[in-house]
Amino acid sequence: MTDSLMRRRAAVLAPSYYHAFEEPLHMVRGDGVWMWDAGGTRYLDCYNNVPSVGHCHPHVTAALAAQAQVLNTHTRYLHEGVVRLAERLLAKLPSSIEVAAFACTGSEANDLALQMARRFTGARGVAVFDHSYHGNTALTLAASPSEYPADERPDWLCVLEPPNLFRGPYRGDDPAAAAKYLALAVQAMDALEARGQHLACLLLDASWDANGPLVAPTGYVAALCQEVRNRGGLVICDEVQAGYCRMGAHWWGFEDYGVTPDIVTCGKPMGAGHPVAATFARRDVAQALADKSFYFNTFGGNPVSAAVANAVIDVIEDEGLLANAARTGSYFREALEGLQARHPVIGAVQGAGLFYGLDMISDADTRAPFCRAEMARLGNLIASEGVITGTSGALGQTLKLRPPLTFGPAQVDIAIAAIDRALARL
Ligand SMILES: Cc1ncc(COP(=O)(O)O)c(C=O)c1O
Repeated sequence: MTDSLMRRRAAVLAPSYYHAFEEPLHMVRGDGVWMWDAGGTRYLDCYNNVPSVGHCHPHVTAALAAQAQVLNTHTRYLHEGVVRLAERLLAKLPSSIEVAAFACTGSEANDLALQMARRFTGARGVAVFDHSYHGNTALTLAASPSEYPADERPDWLCVLEPPNLFRGPYRGDDPAAAAKYLALAVQAMDALEARGQHLACLLLDASWDANGPLVAPTGYVAALCQEVRNRGGLVICDEVQAGYCRMGAHWWGFEDYGVTPDIVTCGKPMGAGHPVAATFARRDVAQALADKSFYFNTFGGNPVSAAVANAVIDVIEDEGLLANAARTGSYFREALEGLQARHPVIGAVQGAGLFYGLDMISDADTRAPFCRAEMARLGNLIASEGVITGTSGALGQTLKLRPPLTFGPAQVDIAIAAIDRALARL
């Protein structure tokens, strides 16, 4: 069945699609942190942040079904659900961020954020980190160095060096790393201005997902945001990855760095599998767009999506998932460091909360990264042990571990044992 589905899929889906793992997985059911394939094999999901509160959470699916049976329309009619959702999320953001606009995907939310920043500042320049990913629209894809051809980068794009303390130019043993990464950013912004472009915004993913995840050196993010503001730019925090308790200490990832953004975007984890996303902004910033341009999103903020997103917040609050991300997260980190002590191919354990990356090396002295074939083999071996993981990193060298927020210590033990066995087989 899986073979014939693979053939039919290859015949009709666009060539951009690829599948995870050598043996394509044909998943048919999910429940909490578990997924089952068509052959009945159960897998521990140690990768998916989309089912943020677990696959098919009964409170979320009940809210979806209940609202779908009553009404689904759009934001041009009054509806309690979308207003309540905006109120609840804005209450979790800095008080200077006062309004919300809803979308269906993180790409749309970031696209809107960039449009707002450009309207408000009158400038076009966008600063992003190298190898970052911010979306698939024409605008956000061009601002996503991880996926966009380097030789086609627009002249309004300012590409910054990610603060990677294991693999970057300045490392964990350098006490001046923060200042040195900032100096590189200043150089890149100066180069943007030398090209005749002014800075409209910094688009920052505070987990540096596609690069790691990474944790930046103390003081770097605040100093970077100040530099952006000194040049008239706004700070947009893309919380598609770092938000919704993922990093363990706060609801939003940017809070770890003590910065106050002008715009915040979010997507995937808001709907635990349902497409809902949002752009939150200062009122004057959102007004600048409304004065000159247009925003309507037929499905963004519809009553069914709003019911789902409200239910996800209920689950996070009722089940104490922020505290769980911190508690299980620190247990996870310790276990990963234990694994690193047994397997020298693990060069670094990066990340925080329930989001970790293992930077895999084939040589301890040079830190030469695992090649793509080695990473693929490792992922396949771990999957054959019943655990789903992913890859990340600028060189594709990082084993990415980012389970649903409901992950507990017992599941950490299962994941660690599976990775341990896979590394022994490698
Ligand atoms: C940091 C970040 N921003 C934006 C996006 C785009 O979100 P979506 O796939 O919902 O459009 C992604 C998706 O992976 C992401 O990781």
